[in-house]
Parts: sequence; C-alpha cells; structure tokens
Amino acid sequence: MRIAVLGGDGFVGWPTSLHLSNLGHEVHIVDNLSRRWIDTELGVQSLTPMDSIQERCRIWHQETGNRIQFHLLNLATEYDRLKGWLLDVKPDAVIHFAEQRAAPYSMKTDRHKVYTVNNNVNATHNLLAALVETGIDAHLIHLGTMGVYGYSSVGAPIPEGYLDVEIDTPTGKKGQQILYPTKPGSVYHMTKSLDQILFQFYAQNDGLRITDLHQGIVWGTHTDQTRRHEQLINRFDYDGDYGTVLNRFLIQAAIGYPLTVHGTGGQTRAFIHVQDSVRCVELALGDAPKAGERVKIFNQMTETHRVRDLAELVAKLTGAKVANLPNPRKEAPENDLIVNNEQFLSLGLKPITLAEGLLAEVVDVAKKYAHRIDRSRVPAVSAWTKDIARVVEHDPEGKRLRSVS
Ligand SMILES: NC(=O)c1ccc[n+]([C@@H]2O[C@H](COP(=O)([O-])OP(=O)(O)OC[C@H]3O[C@@H](n4cnc5c(N)ncnc54)[C@H](O)[C@@H]3O)[C@@H](O)[C@H]2O)c1
Repeated sequence: MRIAVLGGDGFVGWPTSLHLSNLGHEVHIVDNLSRRWIDTELGVQSLTPMDSIQERCRIWHQETGNRIQFHLLNLATEYDRLKGWLLDVKPDAVIHFAEQRAAPYSMKTDRHKVYTVNNNVNATHNLLAALVETGIDAHLIHLGTMGVYGYSSVGAPIPEGYLDVEIDTPTGKKGQQILYPTKPGSVYHMTKSLDQILFQFYAQNDGLRITDLHQGIVWGTHTDQTRRHEQLINRFDYDGDYGTVLNRFLIQAAIGYPLTVHGTGGQTRAFIHVQDSVRCVELALGDAPKAGERVKIFNQMTETHRVRDLAELVAKLTGAKVANLPNPRKEAPENDLIVNNEQFLSLGLKPITLAEGLLAEVVDVAKKYAHRIDRSRVPAVSAWTKDIARVVEHDPEGKRLRSVS
C-alpha cells in the first residue's frame, strides 16, 4: 500500500513509519516539524539524540534499502498545498498523527490554547475536506486519545466508541447508538473530542472510510525497527509539558530526582507500549470500514494503572523516592478506569506488559542518556487554572530552600 503518515517525525509517527516501511509499504511522511520548534520554544530536547528527519530517512534507506519520502507541509495552514500533495501521491491510506498532543502545553497560556485549537482542528478538517475534494478514497486512521472521556468513575467499562441508549418518545422507548459522551479535561483533549464530530460528519455525508484509535498513554522508546541503528532512535520527551507520566518516572529514577506524583496519585490511566501502538496501526489498516459505514473506533490501550502504583513500582525497581506534589491539573483526585479493548485483542494483538519492559527502559534508555537531562525542566508547572497556578510546586527537589539556608 502507499501510506501517508502525517506527523511522521513524532514520537509515535516515526516508529509507525518504520514499522510500515519494514512490512513493505511505500511510506510518505508529512510533517511541519512544529514539534521540534516547540522543543526550541520550551528550551528542552528529547532525552535521546534525534537526527534530522532527512538524516533518519537516509539511514533507514542505508539499513534496509527501503525509501521513506519526507514532505515539509503544515496541514493546518497550507490547504492548497495539501490538496496538491494528495493528488500527486494518491495514498491508499492516511495515518493522521499531526496534532499538538500535550495537555499541559495546551493549558500553558491563552496563546497556547488558541494555537492548539487552530492547529489540531484545522489540520483534521483540512485533511477531510481535501480527501472529499480530490476524490481520493484513502482509509483515514486517526490517533485520538482515551482522555476524551475524562476520568470519572462510572463503574462500567468504556465501550469502543459507541453507547447503546434508550430515548423516551411519545410511542415508547427507542434504542439508539450514540458516540460515547466525551468530557475532555484540557484544551488538547477538547480538540480530540471535536475531531470525533468532524469524522462522524464526513463518514456519513461523504462516505469517507475512517478509523479513530482512542489511544492510552504511550510508554517505552524502542521498537524492533528503531533498534536497528543508533540514528534511528525514537524521541523521548521527559519535560513537564511533553513527558508522559511513566517515561517521566523512569528518567526521574535514573537521575536521582524524586518521582513527582501529583496529589494522592489516585488517578488511573490507560497505557500502551510504543511497540504495541505501531502494531495496532497495522491491525487497523487491515480492518478498514467500508464507504458509508460509521466511523470505526478502537480503544488502543493494553492495561490500566493507578499513578501511585506506577511510582511505587518504579521506586521498588530503582530505589527512587516518591514526592507527592500539588496537582497542577483540575481533575478528580481518584478515579477508576475500566476499558473494553476486545477489538484489537480479537485481531491478534499480544500486549507487552509493563512488568516485562520496564527495567530494560530504565537501563537502556533513561540511564544511558541521563547526562542529557536538564533537571530544571523536569517539574510539571503548567497549571489548569489561575488559582491552581498559585500552589504549583516549581522546586520538587527543594534546591532553592537549601541555597537560602
Ligand atoms: N504520545 C502519547 O502518549 C499519545 C497518547 C494518545 C494519543 N496520542 C496521539 O498520537 C498522535 C501522535 O502523538 P506523538 O506522541 O507522536 O506526538 P508528537 O508531538 O511527538 O508528534 C506529532 C507530530 O505531528 C507534527 N505536526 C503537528 N502539527 C502539525 C501540522 N499542522 N502539520 C504537519 N505536522 C504537524 C509534529 O511536528 C510532530 O512531529 C497525536 O495526535 C496524539 O494526540 C499520543
């Protein structure tokens, strides 16, 4: 298949591109490299040393003989170029990772909120409109998030996209299936909820074939393909805005930084290893909906964990200390989470569990590159409201106090 990977320079897009290229597909990456620019804005860098996307593609060709093409294009602002590009390449499938994906970044300031909404919603809508206009019948796979549902404790499993409801009508109760209600907890998650409505409309109105993958938090760094050469290494974000909870615990342990648990750590979250994430995209590619069918929605996660349990696990493995800090997010202090993920399991996914992969990550990645960590960028200080901003902990190590005394 000819596959376009939008956002293919990113944390999940890059290993997915390699995985699909390795399976023999013709892969075209589209990316505006905004994520690299945001690193510059925030004054941080990936824990792992990343080469330019052009160099990464060159090394992949050298190692495998397969070519991955790179196209520099902003999906959100360059509509006409996007249309022209689609007509040139005519992909059979489009995998859409190209959005601003950090909840804390989306909540930093009003400017970051506006950027996240403009970037994410326009990128998705431009793509949908361009697919209709060009008549390209590509299967569109989008990376959404489990986070769209918020984290209340209903006590029932979150189904894969749709909920059976009964509505009272004058002639009695009528059954209907509706999109499972979203309750986004950040501007970033709100954009993913809006994406769902765009997909519903374009599938029903224009017969676009769309799969929406509601992904859990991705952890880990390596996949079989990124391991093939040092310069194919994946990015690894550890900073307070882009670092995801488990990856942050791993680097904190590696540099003797306290494991920063927000609140009681009673938040339960869904997780998936990056190797399973790329495999899920492969499985979804082979299971496309037909034109006229509703959007196919998968819960792309393999296990759920409470944050304090994760911290304890990492502390036990490494001897790190745990620090409970005020939570910069506005969210329930404790929640349960039960998720139905039958569809991927029935397609043959064999999940990598946290217990199997964790120690290798600490040793092979976090410790190996620990010298590249800027400790001042580790705390998560982006607050959800002005009131919360007043109590956010900027100095979990207590360094400032020590220098005063
Ligand atoms: N990483 C996770 O834990 C996780 C969890 C759930 C869902 N997701 C979703 O998966 C997708 C990929 O996540 P990631 O962690 O790889 O993020 P990432 O930020 O590493 O990658 C996103 C890529 O998209 C590019 N991009 C952003 N806006 C663009 C635009 N307008 N035009 C062209 N390129 C653009 C960026 O430059 C970047 O390379 C995101 O949509 C994210 O919401 C990620």
